[in-house]
Amino acid sequence: MTATVPSLTDVTDKSKAQGVVVFVCRSCRAEADPTAEPRAGATLAQTVSALGKDEGVTVRSVNCLANCKRGLSAAIRTQDGWSYIFGGLAQDDAADLLVGARLLENAPDGLMPWRGRPDSLKRGMVARIPALHHTEETP
Ligand code: FES
Repeated sequence: MTATVPSLTDVTDKSKAQGVVVFVCRSCRAEADPTAEPRAGATLAQTVSALGKDEGVTVRSVNCLANCKRGLSAAIRTQDGWSYIFGGLAQDDAADLLVGARLLENAPDGLMPWRGRPDSLKRGMVARIPALHHTEETP
């Protein structure tokens, strides 16, 4: 993380992180050493999970996010806001995912703000997905 990225405690109030879930692909392989065991994704998932327990953020590992060519991969979802898929993560980006979760949880418009977002979640953004109720249609 760079000096401009807020720490987890700067971003918020742990009680508000109830509605956000970080999903980390445990099956992604390290590009530099694809045969390594445990897989790099599994290590990242374990690290994010441990940090999430400490910080009150729900973290789940998943088998694949269909972003295999651009791993390591993770998604951050909220109940009513936008969801984000990230790729190109490194094993030391675990804390960045929790910063992103906090930013998203506290975003009044349901969009993860660019400002304050860790670099890994800027350069690694693959897609964002609107909430089910989202519409930009006009009558
Ligand atoms: S193996 Fe990680 S996204 Fe498919």
